Amino acid sequence: MNRTLGVCYYPEHWPEETWAGDARRMAETGLTWVRIGEFAWSKLEPSPGKLQFDWLDRAIDTLHAHGLKVILGTPTATPPRWMLTRHPDMLAVDAQRHPRKFGSRRHYCFSHPGYLDECKRIVTLLAERYGQSVQAWQTDNEYGCHDTTLSYSPAAQEEFRNWLAQRYQSPDALNTAWGNTFWSMDYAEFDEIDLPNLTVTEPNPAHVLAFRRFSSDQVVRFNRTQTEIIRRHSDAPILHNYMGRVLEFDHFDVGTDLDIASWDSYPLGFLSDRLGAGDAHKQRYLRQGDPDNQAFHHDLYRAVGAAREGAPHDGRWWIMEQQPGPVNWAPWNPAPLPGMARLWAWEAFAHGAETVCYFRWRQAPFAQEQQHAGLLRPDSQPAPALAEAAQVANELKDMPDTATHQAAVALIFDYPSAWAWDTQPQGADFTYFDLMLDTYRALRKLGLSIDILPSTTTSLKGYKLALAPGLATLPEPLKQALTDPGIVTLCGPRTNAKTAEMAIPVPLPPNLPGLDITVARVESLPPTEAIPIAVGHVIRWFEHLEGSAETFAETIDGHPVIVRNQNQFYLGAWLDQEGFVALMTDLAMLAGLEITHLPEGLRIRDTATHRFVFNYAPEPQIYEGTEIPPAGVHWTPL
Ligand code: GAL
Repeated sequence: MNRTLGVCYYPEHWPEETWAGDARRMAETGLTWVRIGEFAWSKLEPSPGKLQFDWLDRAIDTLHAHGLKVILGTPTATPPRWMLTRHPDMLAVDAQRHPRKFGSRRHYCFSHPGYLDECKRIVTLLAERYGQSVQAWQTDNEYGCHDTTLSYSPAAQEEFRNWLAQRYQSPDALNTAWGNTFWSMDYAEFDEIDLPNLTVTEPNPAHVLAFRRFSSDQVVRFNRTQTEIIRRHSDAPILHNYMGRVLEFDHFDVGTDLDIASWDSYPLGFLSDRLGAGDAHKQRYLRQGDPDNQAFHHDLYRAVGAAREGAPHDGRWWIMEQQPGPVNWAPWNPAPLPGMARLWAWEAFAHGAETVCYFRWRQAPFAQEQQHAGLLRPDSQPAPALAEAAQVANELKDMPDTATHQAAVALIFDYPSAWAWDTQPQGADFTYFDLMLDTYRALRKLGLSIDILPSTTTSLKGYKLALAPGLATLPEPLKQALTDPGIVTLCGPRTNAKTAEMAIPVPLPPNLPGLDITVARVESLPPTEAIPIAVGHVIRWFEHLEGSAETFAETIDGHPVIVRNQNQFYLGAWLDQEGFVALMTDLAMLAGLEITHLPEGLRIRDTATHRFVFNYAPEPQIYEGTEIPPAGVHWTPL
């Protein structure tokens, strides 16, 4: 497959006479794709029904004239101001009942029927006009970004009641499923059920989980409404640009309606803004980004990209927005080390990305993102990332294909588990995403390549090691797959610890066939507490295990922490990195995997034909006798 580069471009921000020059420079840089249009609704329809598409026709023609391919975004993340006059109640409402007002973006509630109709209208107009001319489509922009999945609006309330009626059929069934007899919370009618906000103390977790499921389904419905229209007029692939660490909707569900998954990768922004890492880690990787966070999302979205075809791990995926320099939105916004805009692109390709698009072409001198770098400065002079993009484009010409192949290690990722542990963390820092990233990080430190799979996976054939930590409700087919004696498997902590209705199952968890172990009770631990084990410590979470399974690791005073029956393991705790690395080392060796304890900040990714080595460390590192400089990328045939 041909791997390509692209860029995000906003022709509506620049005088028309500059478009041709921009397109020429894009082509000269070696870019193939240009994404446009996703925020342009007010330019396309300045007042209701007054359509102005001629400028977009010319912009697309200009890009095409220079041999560039176009991804057209539907503009539904930025409804114009007049939309609010038409639909004053279309705004999302936060849990405190504050409207999420006009003046930035994503100011809509997924459940508002009037706004949904407006979206259908504009998407139909665009699909009719450009269905045969553009090369790809993007729906909306970053669902869920800026905390916009959950809305407590009147429209959401009404839709939630309908959704509940569909799911439970009768109020009695709902009362039983939720355990509403507790605190006399029973309902006689679906219309009595409010959204789970503004309650005196915590609402019923089953109520919250139902609301989380409903909210995810609303995103799926909103997206599907657009893809159905586009497909009537176009054969071009449809994708959406997901964000990093947004877990409020099930991306696998949205993915069933899309041809390609893409995500927006801002390694330095994420490190500063949304990674639960300590100060020393943040300082060390300040200008490179976390060594595992991008790779984790690459593997996750590769799986999401497979949702439509049901090929478990190997879907089509892109980077739709790649950080080019300092961003504007994190608490601090350092510049990347020279070479990182290249390294990040290569790491994406090594994980199977088809295309990496940089965000954005030229830095805008106005409005919210005026401090956000582009490939060009506001005065059109090259910013440092332009040369790096050109270098990657050149390197791609001579590169052998970076096709992926099935990894030996599978990690199960499940969005509803994130909702379950958000709803009832039990310990303030029990965060599903962090548990997954800690596990993934330990595997990567050993040089392993990993496939991420959804919890709907029914077969683990071909894998040697499979892990399903924190998977709140273990679906039966996956449970069976995890008992395959030919695979080393690890469940826990908290795997299978809740029913689908957010209750404690009896028999008690984890209730795994072949492993006689019961979680008799659980404790969460504050950051001041760390219980030593042979290597590393138990932190955050500790389960008291009973049963006849063999103890594999225990606390110094003899409480089992890891138990096993042959190849089947259960971890009754959250471990620090030292503990996780030690455990992964043991599991990988048992599974017969070749491992390397990599120097700090060095990471490996194997494609079907090549081994890629990336240096995230701020100092040179040696890999098998070769010195790799900071931000260095090195590849060798396997
Ligand atoms: C993304 C978004 C872009 C732009 C960018 C800035 O989240 O999709 O429109 O805002 O961040 O880093």
